[in-house]
Amino acid sequence: MAATWARLITEAAAEFAEAGIDAARNDAEWLAAEVAGVSRGRLLVADPPDASARDRFAALVARRVAREPLQHILGSAPFWRRDLAVGPGVFIPRPETELLVEWALSELAGQERPVVVDLCAGSGAIASAVATERPDATIYAVERHEAAAMWTSRNLTGGTVVVADATDPATLAELDGTVDAVLSNPPYVPLGTGVEPEVAADPETAVFGGADGLAVIRPLVQRIRTLLTPGGFTAVEHDDTHGEVVPELLNAAGFVEVAAHRDLVGRPRFATGRKPI
Ligand SMILES: C[S@@+](CC[C@H](N)C(=O)[O-])C[C@H]1O[C@@H](n2cnc3c(N)ncnc32)[C@H](O)[C@@H]1O
Repeated sequence: MAATWARLITEAAAEFAEAGIDAARNDAEWLAAEVAGVSRGRLLVADPPDASARDRFAALVARRVAREPLQHILGSAPFWRRDLAVGPGVFIPRPETELLVEWALSELAGQERPVVVDLCAGSGAIASAVATERPDATIYAVERHEAAAMWTSRNLTGGTVVVADATDPATLAELDGTVDAVLSNPPYVPLGTGVEPEVAADPETAVFGGADGLAVIRPLVQRIRTLLTPGGFTAVEHDDTHGEVVPELLNAAGFVEVAAHRDLVGRPRFATGRKPI
C-alpha cells in the first residue's frame, strides 16, 4: 500500500506516545508539514510522500523520539504573532509568557511612545511581541549570555539588544528613573527540580535560579525599581511555587498595586506592581 501522510503521521504519533511525548499527534503533524512544505492545515491535500520525503520524515521522527525539542527540529517557535528563530543555546519561549505580554500591552494602551525594557530576554520573545504591537515604543532587551543574545538580536527588530547582567546596577544605568515598563521572564526553577528532557535542552542558565529559584529575581526586583519612572510598572514571571514570595518581594521593594496572576490552568505565573508616583 502506498504511504500517505495520514498513515505516516499515525505511525509517528504512536512512536512519540511510546517515547512519553504528550502532544504526540500534534508533533507528528508539525514534522510532516515541515517535510511536505505545507501548513498543517493543508496536509490532507499535500502531495503523497515520495521515497525522499519518507526518508526525511523518518529522520526527523527519530530526532523527536530522542526527545530533541520540536522547536529545535523546526528551527522556530511560535510566540505572539510571530515565529521566532530558536536553537541550541537559547530558551524556547513558552505560550504562558504570552499572558504576561497581554497584561503588559493592556497597561501600555493609551500611553504614547513608551520606553520598555525586557530583562533576561533570551529569544527576545517579550521584547519582540511588544515591538510587534507597539512600533512607537523604544525597546531594550538585556541578555547576559552571548549564545542566547545571538538569538535575541536575530529576532528583535526595532529594539536595542544589550549583552549584560540584568541585575548589575551599571546595566542600562543611563535609563534609571525613565522606563515605563520593565518586563521579565528570568530563570526561576529551583536547582534540583526534575525537568522533562525537552526542558533539559534549554540552557541551564535560562532555567535554574539558584537553590530556591529566586537567585536572579531577588536582585532583579531592586534593579527594576531603579529603572522605572514613577508610575511605571513591572511584570515578572516566576515558578508556580513562588506565587506568594514574588509579590512579597515586590511589596518589600516598595512597589504598589502589587498583584499575583495565574495562568490558564490556574497556576501562579507572574507578579506585577507599580512604582509609586
Ligand atoms: C527563562 S529564559 C526567558 C527568555 C525569554 N524572556 C522568554 O520569555 O522566552 C531566561 C533568560 O535569562 C537569561 N539570563 C539569566 N541570568 C541573567 C542575568 N543575570 N542577566 C540577563 N540575562 C540573564 C538566560 O540566558 C535566558 O536567556
